[in-house]
Amino acid sequence: MTGSVSFDRAAGYYDQTRSLPDDLMDVLVPRLVAEIPRDRPCLEIGAGTGRIALPLMDRGVDLVGVDISAEMLHRLLAKRANANVALADATRLPFGDRTFGSAVASHVLHLIPDWKTAVDELTRVVVPGGVLLASKGAERTTEWEVGVRRHFCVEAGDPPWPPGIGSMDELDGEMSRRGAVVGRVEDVVNEGSYSISALLATLEQGIFAACWSLDEETRRRSAAATREWASHEYGDLDEPRATSHSSEWRAYRFPG
Ligand SMILES: C[S@@+](CC[C@H](N)C(=O)[O-])C[C@H]1O[C@@H](n2cnc3c(N)ncnc32)[C@H](O)[C@@H]1O
Repeated sequence: MTGSVSFDRAAGYYDQTRSLPDDLMDVLVPRLVAEIPRDRPCLEIGAGTGRIALPLMDRGVDLVGVDISAEMLHRLLAKRANANVALADATRLPFGDRTFGSAVASHVLHLIPDWKTAVDELTRVVVPGGVLLASKGAERTTEWEVGVRRHFCVEAGDPPWPPGIGSMDELDGEMSRRGAVVGRVEDVVNEGSYSISALLATLEQGIFAACWSLDEETRRRSAAATREWASHEYGDLDEPRATSHSSEWRAYRFPG
């Protein structure tokens, strides 16, 4: 086992908590599709429930998805029975060299301690000159949200997180060292609103993978302490507050 974070436990609620609104998916997906060469299949590592894989397939991308979570792949297959998926670890891909023209790593490289081995594997199975599309997940740019999450984590003893890449800059550096050209996919910004109470309820329930190492009592105690602090710091905890998350996708072109 590689120590990667499997999403088996999240499969039942993942789609309710992580999806982008349809209008933003309609902007993002064509931007990703435009980067994908069509002469060879595309591999997605950590394909999960198909949040990105299925819209890419719908736009004609010949995609193969792998994941270490059977539960997540079952959800994907419930939506698309003939999808081409396999239970496999991104650090040990069951494919020959140069099988794919491109690869996608969406919200996954931060979950893999040995993420450089996953990048080795992607470099091996994608043809020279091929493309890797990657995103770590929405960057939290809203000050109050960063503050509340940070306070909760400190109260909970600051459990180590994430096990894999900490930022897209880290991946940019690694890909540059490997001779890849680093390209940015134009950002999609998800503007919404959320209350501090709602965010704390999510943290207390252990919805986010970053909280999975915490037991129920630690989450409950940390949420209560953060509630107390936040009501002094920010006032009304039930007030809807603006949030803004940018998608931060990269298109890396492997050396030819
Ligand atoms: C946050 S979900 C992202 C799912 C999908 N890519 C998306 O953007 O919605 C991360 C997925 O990566 C999977 N995963 C974690 N480590 C992995 C590994 N080493 N190899 C393959 N999949 C992995 C998890 O089981 C989970 O389904």
